[in-house]
Amino acid sequence: MITLRQMSAPRWTAVFLLLAALCCLFVPAVTVKHENFKKCDQSGFCKRNRQFADDVSASSSWTSPYVLDPASITFEKGQLNAIVLKAVKEGEEKARLPLTVTFLDSGVARVTLDEEKRAKGEINLRHDSKARKERYNEAGKWALVGGLKVFEGAALNAEAEQGYTKVVYGKGGKHQAVIRHSPFGIEFQRDGETHVKFNERGFLNVEHWRAKIEKAKEEEKKEGEEEKKEEEKKEETQGEDESTWWEESFGGNTDSKPRGPEAVALDISFPGYEHVFGIPEHATRLSLKTTKGGDNAYDEPYRLYNADVFEYEMDSPMTLYGAIPFMQAHRKGSTVGVFWLNAAETWIDVTKKKNTANPLALGLKGHTDTQTHWMSESGLLDVFVFLGPTPQDLARQYGELTGYTAMPQSFAIAYHQCRWNYVTDEDVKDVDRRFDKFNIPYDVIWLDIEYTQEKKYFTWDPLTFVNPDKMQKQLAKRERKLVAIIDPHIKNTDNYPVIDELKKKDLAVKNKDGNQYEGWCWPGSSMWIDCFNPAAIDWWKGLFKYDSFKGTAPNTFIWNDMNEPSVFNGPETTMPKDNLHHGNWEHRDVHNINGMTFHNATYQAITERKKGELRRPFVLTRAFYSGSQRSAAMWTGDNLAEWAHLEASLPMVLNQGISGFPFAGADVGGFFGNPSKELLTRWYQAGIYYPFFRGHAHIDTRRREPYIAGAPYTEIITQALRLRYQLLPAWYTAFHEASTTGAPIVRPNFYVHPEDDNGFAVDDQLYIGSTGLLAKPVTKEGATSVSVYLADSQPYYDYFDYTTYHGAGHHTVPAPLEKIPLLMQGGHIIPRRDRPRRSSGLMKHDPFTLVVVLDKDGNADGTLYLDDGETFDYQQGAFIHRRFNFDGVRQVLTSTNLDTSSRTVKCEKYLKSMEKVRVEKIIIVGAPSAWKNKAEVTVMEEGRKESKRKQSFPLEYHAAEGKKAAWVVVRDPKAWIGRGWRIDFGDKAAGHEHHGHEH
Ligand code: GLC
Repeated sequence: MITLRQMSAPRWTAVFLLLAALCCLFVPAVTVKHENFKKCDQSGFCKRNRQFADDVSASSSWTSPYVLDPASITFEKGQLNAIVLKAVKEGEEKARLPLTVTFLDSGVARVTLDEEKRAKGEINLRHDSKARKERYNEAGKWALVGGLKVFEGAALNAEAEQGYTKVVYGKGGKHQAVIRHSPFGIEFQRDGETHVKFNERGFLNVEHWRAKIEKAKEEEKKEGEEEKKEEEKKEETQGEDESTWWEESFGGNTDSKPRGPEAVALDISFPGYEHVFGIPEHATRLSLKTTKGGDNAYDEPYRLYNADVFEYEMDSPMTLYGAIPFMQAHRKGSTVGVFWLNAAETWIDVTKKKNTANPLALGLKGHTDTQTHWMSESGLLDVFVFLGPTPQDLARQYGELTGYTAMPQSFAIAYHQCRWNYVTDEDVKDVDRRFDKFNIPYDVIWLDIEYTQEKKYFTWDPLTFVNPDKMQKQLAKRERKLVAIIDPHIKNTDNYPVIDELKKKDLAVKNKDGNQYEGWCWPGSSMWIDCFNPAAIDWWKGLFKYDSFKGTAPNTFIWNDMNEPSVFNGPETTMPKDNLHHGNWEHRDVHNINGMTFHNATYQAITERKKGELRRPFVLTRAFYSGSQRSAAMWTGDNLAEWAHLEASLPMVLNQGISGFPFAGADVGGFFGNPSKELLTRWYQAGIYYPFFRGHAHIDTRRREPYIAGAPYTEIITQALRLRYQLLPAWYTAFHEASTTGAPIVRPNFYVHPEDDNGFAVDDQLYIGSTGLLAKPVTKEGATSVSVYLADSQPYYDYFDYTTYHGAGHHTVPAPLEKIPLLMQGGHIIPRRDRPRRSSGLMKHDPFTLVVVLDKDGNADGTLYLDDGETFDYQQGAFIHRRFNFDGVRQVLTSTNLDTSSRTVKCEKYLKSMEKVRVEKIIIVGAPSAWKNKAEVTVMEEGRKESKRKQSFPLEYHAAEGKKAAWVVVRDPKAWIGRGWRIDFGDKAAGHEHHGHEH
């Protein structure tokens, strides 16, 4: 630091600098309050297990005390059962841990380890606790919906060596689990090679139950008088450091821990894998950094403990609002993964071990292993192991277990306009009118907590929302929807029937003494509905009926916020861990699932608002767990109106996609603070690529609806929104794929190009579904270009002007403010709807444009999925699913049916409703030069009268110009979207050998 006196600059400079320095002091520092959240060493079990791992690693003589008793092994129908014995103290009985290894039809293996004493209820709880004695074993009940069919072909390998049990499983016997008895550990192999290892490093730790040795009353009394030193305490206990075993305090809250220490922990290694992805939600890059210090590394493990983290920070392993304990490891030619099914607080250390090449072993290259260490505070050890071998396999297998993403209504993937708050019904109507006035499309307007009367959910503020029905009617005119917020905390006040019923029916979460728990949230004193209780779900459903929640209509949908749960006066802004849920499970056991039970209940409630009204619900949630994708969309919570938050949103959304919960987005514009017009514009240009696309802002921010920014920003934002709307058919098709295969909606480079080692860590650009659309949003202030990474040798064309980019590696793509960098990979056919409309609902019967983007061999392929966008009729065949193909050799574009099911009544009805919907334009990008002199194409369509079956249509040829590719247009070829047809671009005169194209 230089002092003022040392400076030789003129005095005014000094004054200026001083003022600047003072200003800095007074700018409110927008950073997360670290002191509100635990670090690993403030969370007893994390500290213990991390220390344990360090001690184990440091010792050369140490062996893991877990031994599988070979005499206990039974193997039947794809499942191995055995007892693992944990050596405790000399002379003491070993802890018996029942092991199951189940081999599933999908090629996935599941390993569980329980604790016999607790399963049998042979333990005592302290403080007369009413909590359950078992280890929590119901996470699967909430998270899993399928994929559990056992592979009966799994077989013991008779050639196993002494000390090992080997099980061959997976289709074609490609997989093998090698179970080592002493010390207990498992290696998972595919095609003879080990991909996943359990307990390789000996960090397996199941903290078995033991009684607390209470000291004599007298002694305790004395103890209370004078403080004891840490050291002395240790001596009096059971020989170990018990300081975090029986009670833990944080931020003024004390956790009574009636079962004492009960963590489960395991090291899981991925030999030869340099990249691991997944375990959202964290504000990190896609390829996870290591966590034990060093360059470009974190020094805390990744934490999963759903929490309301105010003003969260970037590039941090800190916990956020949701948890998906699913991790995948990727390398060229292989993707494998693990799903740690545990709902308690969890921490994960990630380290990498570089193995340098051995100069003597020819051909053996150096490689990196990724090693992980999973630690959960309580519950079973329950892990699924996926052996891929592709990212697509993992997505499917994980989706089979936890469910695929629900097919949303079509409005839900259009644009959502939110803020905290639209203050009156007149305000809502005014915003709605202005969008129309400025010709800006939007589908949904949102109401945050202020619409209620004093934060009592299911009520309207009578002074500000005087006529919600009229408001809804105005929205419905343009097929627009309303989303209203309903949080899980219920105001504890008089004259509020909802709280009266909650109390009377005894449906709230309880405190450790079994009384209804009371805490603080938006409404002040509140209680929390316990959606682990089926009776609570039933009651909740009733509250959403139209005659109960007056002022709502079929176009009203729900936003569930604060469901981590957020409790302002609770430890780490959430519930005390010794609170009790339905079935007397402690909150500690179920914490990360809590949010999901709530949005699931809301989803069910929306489905059942009215008998016979079967429309797909829309629920947005902030907290989530594995399985949330079945009933909700998510957003990344309270971000900041800063460039760094815009940048971080991309890897976060990509990570959601590969972690099975792809209906994800971030608050466009940033929640806290006021974005500059440039940032807001860039954020819209990026937000159009979030599967869930919503503008939102904090109550203290200035208004920022897109029409406010003025020229040129409003126009540029409008163009971005129109691009999203134009591509809605492609987005909807991507959602359909996600809902049937588990594939992400926006995809990172590694997922699309799993063989391209240079692109595994690329996380700032994305592919939209299988369309070949590659977007690289601008996330830097003042940028006028971006560098796009191309993984392959296909031609990539600029979406707007067909400039061609060719060759693997980085390419500079111009990106002045008005330009959105978006490329089309050769080889795809992209469905669009080009007519600008005010909402997606108004596009239902609009015609299509097909953009055929030829690959280097002149071929292209694509799909379109369409249904009514609203009901569940698609489950009974009411949909259109087409494949478009351009065959470069025959020069024919065809539309064929992908729907192989027999035609149902519902299907016929739907097809009839779409009868008049046609393809109004076909654009072929990268068109062969041989078409230069071609005047027309012939179109043949199924189901047409013989005389009209074959018709000719003019072809417009646009020659290549500089780097811009040649393209052709066929206008209105009378090809209907629901029918099969074939368009012949071939020319007898030109012959078939002229199918190559320019470039
Ligand atoms: C939380 C939400 C935010 C919302 C606010 C008021 O902070 O994350 O989106 O606007 O609560 O309900």
